[in-house]
Amino acid sequence: MCLSICLVLLPVALLMPNSSSLPQKNTVELKLELKNRGRTPLNPRFLSVTIDASLASQPKYIAFLGSQKLITLTKGLSPAYLRFGGTKSDFLLFDPLQKASLEEKIFWDLQTNQAANLCGLRNLPSHVEQMLRSQWPSQEQIILKETFQKDYKNTTITKSTVDMLYRFANCSELHLIFGLNALLRKEQNEWNSSNAQLLIDYCSSKKYNLSWELGNEPNSFRKKSGIYIDGSQLGKDFVSLHNLLSNYSSYRNSGLFGPDIGQPTKQSQKMLNSFLRAGGKTINSVTWHHYYVDGRFASEEDFLSSDILDTLISEIQTVLQIVDETVPGKLVWLGETSSTYGGGSPGLSNTYLDGFMWLDKLGVSAKFGIDVVMRQALFGAGAYNLVDSDFEPLPDYWLSLLFKKLVGSIVLKASFKGPKDAGEKKLRVYVHCTNINNPKYTAGDVTLFVLNLHNSTQHLELPSVLSGKFVDEYLLEPAGVEGLLSTSVLLNGQVLKMVDDKTLPALYGKLLDPGSPIVLPPHSFGFYVVRNAKATACL
Ligand SMILES: *[C@@H]1O[C@H](CO)[C@@H](O)[C@H](O)[C@H]1NC(C)=O
Ligand SMILES: *[C@@H]1O[C@H](CO)[C@@H](O)[C@H](O)[C@H]1NC(C)=O
Ligand SMILES: *[C@@H]1O[C@H](CO)[C@@H](O)[C@H](O)[C@H]1NC(C)=O
Ligand SMILES: *[C@@H]1O[C@H](CO)[C@@H](O)[C@H](O)[C@H]1NC(C)=O
Ligand SMILES: *[C@@H]1O[C@H](CO)[C@@H](O)[C@H](O)[C@H]1NC(C)=O
Repeated sequence: MCLSICLVLLPVALLMPNSSSLPQKNTVELKLELKNRGRTPLNPRFLSVTIDASLASQPKYIAFLGSQKLITLTKGLSPAYLRFGGTKSDFLLFDPLQKASLEEKIFWDLQTNQAANLCGLRNLPSHVEQMLRSQWPSQEQIILKETFQKDYKNTTITKSTVDMLYRFANCSELHLIFGLNALLRKEQNEWNSSNAQLLIDYCSSKKYNLSWELGNEPNSFRKKSGIYIDGSQLGKDFVSLHNLLSNYSSYRNSGLFGPDIGQPTKQSQKMLNSFLRAGGKTINSVTWHHYYVDGRFASEEDFLSSDILDTLISEIQTVLQIVDETVPGKLVWLGETSSTYGGGSPGLSNTYLDGFMWLDKLGVSAKFGIDVVMRQALFGAGAYNLVDSDFEPLPDYWLSLLFKKLVGSIVLKASFKGPKDAGEKKLRVYVHCTNINNPKYTAGDVTLFVLNLHNSTQHLELPSVLSGKFVDEYLLEPAGVEGLLSTSVLLNGQVLKMVDDKTLPALYGKLLDPGSPIVLPPHSFGFYVVRNAKATACL
């Protein structure tokens, strides 16, 4: 009697995922599609960065971009776009006759000896840099106050501002995208391009190779400036910018991106739709902005909430649908994005914690077909930067650097084996072909990036076709006693830091034996490269 019942019950017990008698309680098995590609490969500059135009609110602070350390850090993220834009770009006026600031002038005078090599290693003299840095905190307060009070003042930028920006992008091997002021208007509300023309003339005379945008979050122009511009007017303005650019041999084929609308609220959706109908043909990619929550009210739990992370999916789908109905096939970019808006959340968005939102955003965006994701910001005012105002790289910088080195542009389909379970939302796995520009790896290798939002250790098993392969683990954990709120990060137990101002550290993986599960500590994330995976989709 007992015998027969036991025989029947035993296999049932083995299938019960929550049975406490099972040793591998927190183990899930991964299912992968290794033969076919999920969708068209991403832009090689998929992970890109921004510098907010507010850095030029006082043009002298642009001299920060002369920092060799900042250039070394930025070059690590190449290939990428560097977007110079944001609300302040609609309040910048270019004056070719205005002189550079004293700080910039000191910088340029140093470079003249090295005219043949503009990227020569001449820094701002340290006393000038120290002076600027000591004044920066009060400048930062002015910038944040403008943001919160929505009271923006016009600022004049000079030839030197443009030169500093271009030199920075060029020496970092990034492609510059310059956001032109869209709020200069003629009487009939059409865009007045005369100031833009001065700036384009200057860039053309210097043979600068860059791309363009026009206007930032035009859906809230009225709030910021009292000027209302509808989508179809903005579309016509892009047509006139496009015509203007075709008059320059250097810019006939340059990139034009827009309209940089904010979160797709009903009003922004309507604007995007009418913009694309009127001007969609002139742009190379459609740009929109995304933040999960308001920086002033964000909590630690928000950064770890799978429900909040999932809100990005429906927003992407909303935008893709509008694009599909108006300019089918046009690429879509997150033209400015970070965890929390309004400059970020001090003490949260500059810590390890932010990595959950940043890495998940990269994974979700790639999976749902966003071609480029531009991180707000590389450096500048606020708490959401990759590099802080002491030029120290924050955890999200190292996360971005690892992403660049390990994650390729082909996205693979991944899911969990077995019945769907709510816990899956808290263990998040994204799979791409490995970046084969990384000399350590070869075509056919596969990179997983995994986030564990559970407050408990999780185990992940690779599908059996990969169970005989070696895996390089790159596990990121917070360093020090602050835990998730740490501003430094461990890679496989070692603190990541620069070797010197010109040298980034080597990033070593830890070799896992074939068949061993991937083990993620509570609240952590990491990258895993399956070597010699021979995935046909990646060959
Ligand atoms: C930087 O400028 C040089 C000289 O103009 C040019 O040859 C090179 O292609 C530029 N690099 C980038 C990344 O724009
Ligand atoms: C455009 O702006 C310039 C100043 O930048 C001004 O001189 C010109 O009159 C404006 N054009 C029109 C048509 O408003
Ligand atoms: C300008 O930069 C783009 C993007 O890097 C590149 O594709 C193009 O070849 C460059 N144009 C010139 C004339 O160097
Ligand atoms: C382009 O140049 C031509 C010839 O100089 C000029 O007539 C035309 O107005 C220009 N177009 C724009 C959009 O500036
Ligand atoms: C995770 O769990 C541990 C132990 O149960 C607890 O001390 C800690 O506060 C939790 N952390 C978070 C972020 O919930």
